[in-house]
Amino acid sequence: HRHLLGIEHLSQSDITTLLDLADTYADLNRQPDKHADALTGLTQINMFFENSTRTQASFEIAGKRLGADVMNMAMQASSIKKGETLIDTAMTLNAMHPDLLVVRHPQSGAVDLLAQKVNCAVLNAGDGRHEHPTQALLDALTIRRAKGRLHRLSIAICGDIAHSRVARSNILLLGKMENRIRLIGPPTLMPAGVADFGVEVFDDMAEGLRDVDVVMMLRLQKERMDGGFIPSEREYYHRYGLDAEKLTHAAPDAIVMHPGPMNRGVEIDGTLADDINRSVIQDQVEMGVAVRMAAMDLLARNLGNAPARQLS
Ligand code: CP
Repeated sequence: HRHLLGIEHLSQSDITTLLDLADTYADLNRQPDKHADALTGLTQINMFFENSTRTQASFEIAGKRLGADVMNMAMQASSIKKGETLIDTAMTLNAMHPDLLVVRHPQSGAVDLLAQKVNCAVLNAGDGRHEHPTQALLDALTIRRAKGRLHRLSIAICGDIAHSRVARSNILLLGKMENRIRLIGPPTLMPAGVADFGVEVFDDMAEGLRDVDVVMMLRLQKERMDGGFIPSEREYYHRYGLDAEKLTHAAPDAIVMHPGPMNRGVEIDGTLADDINRSVIQDQVEMGVAVRMAAMDLLARNLGNAPARQLS
């Protein structure tokens, strides 16, 4: 692959190869010396047009640990503010010969469009409600390490599915790896036609969580609800917020996940989120660095195969 734009484009074997490499980087990241040289001499530019804590920080750390020169574009201070378009901005940076471009953008499809214009490898760090492939990969690695496998598991994804690129990438990845996926949430936050993805849909937590191995909670993404129905937080927590009582419906050894940022007391009880016997939320963050190291390492191996583009 030349780019990492979505789970949509990956095969089962692509996913396994990436997770196996990420496992070795996860071990390296626990050593006193965390450096490797997979990206030595390469330039990585991070362009985040939307807020981020985990993804931006972990892509930066991942690049630095692998020896790349990493530059974070301060998008708030860029000429985007003077009316320069996304593509002109990308072409400007492309002329500086970066090797890896990491892009987050609020519009679905913006990262794919940009990837068609530049001649470096592009990694999608989240585009609108479309895909967040490295999030699904880090979730997969966390599950595989906690459960010892990534197939034939029963996995519940709960909450605001309709606005979630994390849910979309996870449904694609976990489906490709042959797991049973259950989506739980209010019908107003369930995308139309989702059952076509081979998932089961529930609007009752007790029913949907029954005997699942993994419970993945999602934030209410109000920034993407643009004028639509926004549930009251109290009512939402009562019906769909995960707490110790609702978790009793899942398998006794079920793990609790959340991609972050989380809203305590809205989609998840704070005490449960901090319970290291059930919650793997901090492991997800840790695996994020390893997965991003693996993704950039694998793409860097294909650099040089890209056709040269005529810059006008
Ligand atoms: N999970 C995730 O993408 O978090 P950030 O928005 O903080 O990067």
